[in-house]
Amino acid sequence: MGIMVSVVVDYLRHIETDCVVNNVGELADYIPELAAVDPDRFAVSVAVHDGHVYSIGDSSLEFTIQSISKALTYALALSRRGVETVDAHIGVEPSGEAFNEISVDARTRNPKNPMINAGAITAAALLLDAGHDGDTDTGDVDEAFTRLLDFYSGCAGRRLSMDEAVYRSETASGSRNRAIAYMLESYGVMPADPEDAVDLYFRQCSVRVTTDDLAVIGSTLANGGVNPRTGRRMLDQVVVRRVLSVMTTCGMYDGAGDWVTSVGLPAKSGVGGGILAVLPGQLGIGVYSPRLDEHGNSVRGVRACRHLSADLGLHMF
Ligand code: DON
Repeated sequence: MGIMVSVVVDYLRHIETDCVVNNVGELADYIPELAAVDPDRFAVSVAVHDGHVYSIGDSSLEFTIQSISKALTYALALSRRGVETVDAHIGVEPSGEAFNEISVDARTRNPKNPMINAGAITAAALLLDAGHDGDTDTGDVDEAFTRLLDFYSGCAGRRLSMDEAVYRSETASGSRNRAIAYMLESYGVMPADPEDAVDLYFRQCSVRVTTDDLAVIGSTLANGGVNPRTGRRMLDQVVVRRVLSVMTTCGMYDGAGDWVTSVGLPAKSGVGGGILAVLPGQLGIGVYSPRLDEHGNSVRGVRACRHLSADLGLHMF
């Protein structure tokens, strides 16, 4: 291990020592698979501008990406359908509500932002809305998921896969998300079949990642849309700017204000216990620990990010 690597790894271990004494929070338990994980697992990965990943803890342990997928699917929808079309369907205002709130903007009846479920299901629906701009999409869920998984994998720099058991459970317990999709349909703002949109959303939530993957995905966003490990452009700069803006204001749900003031980085959390954070131009960060706070954010993950931000001066403002 080079001197630089060992200094960074030692520093990350110091964060681990501080974070793992904290046993506060509950596992997500709305499906058995999420409640069955080891609550004490912990990992931090940091990908720097040249794509090197520094990590400690269980950084090769796979967990489901869950709501972190919302940022990626929004990015893909913006890329494929254009900002104007996406904006006509999904707002960019923080809702201040829980992630699964059954709510829409009172005036437009569109979902308030792409980071809550209503907006994320609509972003998935936009990937199913076929036949635009001469594309060859058929609107088929399998086909749309293949494209989505290719995109997620390109951002992570390795082939990702879906956890079938989590997907089946999400599908079996997804009444609330179906209710949201049908509500949007009843308002005339759902751009695809509601069942297909929810199906694609459940699949994307069930994609398995590690903190190393999250860090590389984060560094792809930090790097203006080019994966620094592969050199492959995954997104245009204008899409990246939009995604990072919405992550800043809405990524941590009703904990977003507290997060932005204390950590000061665009981020997205998932009930699987992962958090993806980005320092534009510099770093991608992936953290994992499955015990969650009342907002559905990883308790130790938030703590680790507070540390990183304070110690390394990462706060954007
Ligand atoms: O919509 C759901 O219930 C999940 N599949 C994803 C939720 C999630 O990760 C919310 N995040 N903190």
